[in-house]
Amino acid sequence: MARYIVTGGAGFIGSAVCFQLLVEEDAEVIAVDKMTYAANPATLDLLGKHQGFRHVRADIRDAAAMDELVSREQPDAIFHLAAESHVDRSIDGAGEFVMTNVVGTFVMLQAARRLYDQLDAEAADRFRFLHISTDEVFGSLGEADHFSEETGYNPSSPYSASKAGSDHLVRAWYRTYGLPTIVSNCSNNYGPRQFPEKLIPLMILKALAGEALPVYGTGQNVRDWLHVDDHARALRLMVDKSEPGEVYCLGGDCERTNLEIVEAICNILDRKRPKDAPHKRLIEFVQDRPGHDFRYAVDAGKITRELGWTRRNGFEAGLEATVDWYLANEVWWRPIQDGQYRGQRLGTAV
Ligand SMILES: NC(=O)c1ccc[n+]([C@@H]2O[C@H](COP(=O)([O-])OP(=O)(O)OC[C@H]3O[C@@H](n4cnc5c(N)ncnc54)[C@H](O)[C@@H]3O)[C@@H](O)[C@H]2O)c1
Repeated sequence: MARYIVTGGAGFIGSAVCFQLLVEEDAEVIAVDKMTYAANPATLDLLGKHQGFRHVRADIRDAAAMDELVSREQPDAIFHLAAESHVDRSIDGAGEFVMTNVVGTFVMLQAARRLYDQLDAEAADRFRFLHISTDEVFGSLGEADHFSEETGYNPSSPYSASKAGSDHLVRAWYRTYGLPTIVSNCSNNYGPRQFPEKLIPLMILKALAGEALPVYGTGQNVRDWLHVDDHARALRLMVDKSEPGEVYCLGGDCERTNLEIVEAICNILDRKRPKDAPHKRLIEFVQDRPGHDFRYAVDAGKITRELGWTRRNGFEAGLEATVDWYLANEVWWRPIQDGQYRGQRLGTAV
């Protein structure tokens, strides 16, 4: 039975990875997660129903704890997702992003290196350290063009700069120490269990509550959307099939302006909650995000050609299923609203 460590396994994408490893591979999964504001105990409860699942509450910046854990568990691979992940919060408090995303990645790389150096030839051949990063490290595109594995780094926000820093460390640990790393740079994800500070769940919950739907600037910024399950499947393929040192760009081939996303959510809710229609009346244009990247779009040709990955979820059906999930799972999101986050504006840099 394969054994994996998933850092950030209680978060949005990390939990999707854990579910797939548990259900589709019958693997043993150890989620290392500090349970920051972004992690939901309800997600851990769902994961805990699977026999092969364990949660270790620990901080990836804690070198002694990570060394001990990684050498004790001897995983076949480490999926490294733990991070501070919200651009607006990085504008308000960059320090946590540098500490978790850069220093935390350094700590995980060192722990992985110590394990790797002790493995026998067969286990060393199998071992991979997969670093999950974002297309935001490449900065902003104009009207045309796409990010690819050849694109230079040009991050705009403290979040993307800290992720860029972590990518560079991972690449250096491959070149300098021969650690079998893989880097994935993926576009915006959507799906169930995403913390409601991010665009799609924020808009769903605000629209349900009859609150204003704040669209940054003119709403014309473009993102490329990928369903979280398609992302998780791509990550598993990388661990299974990729050569060490590889980098893959991932996207959904699905460009939408932020305004189009908000309008699509409104249209879905008009059908599901007709008495409050039209939800579009709630849209309000607000001050733009400082340093707001105009457009992201990813050419995912390499992973399709080399590893045979294609996305399975179309955007319209995937978005509707996501809205349905939030409608059916108030027990998951209500405690967040009753506790630390009510959808207030973050990241204005004032
Ligand atoms: N969400 C996206 O659209 C997207 C796209 C591309 C790449 N990524 C990357 O994927 C990864 C996961 O993103 P997400 O959206 O699931 O984020 P998330 O914020 O939902 O989850 C992050 C998880 O990491 C945990 N964590 C944070 N700091 C920690 C620490 N010091 N020690 C241990 N655990 C800690 C949190 O508790 C949380 O469970 C991130 O590295 C992010 O940069 C995200």
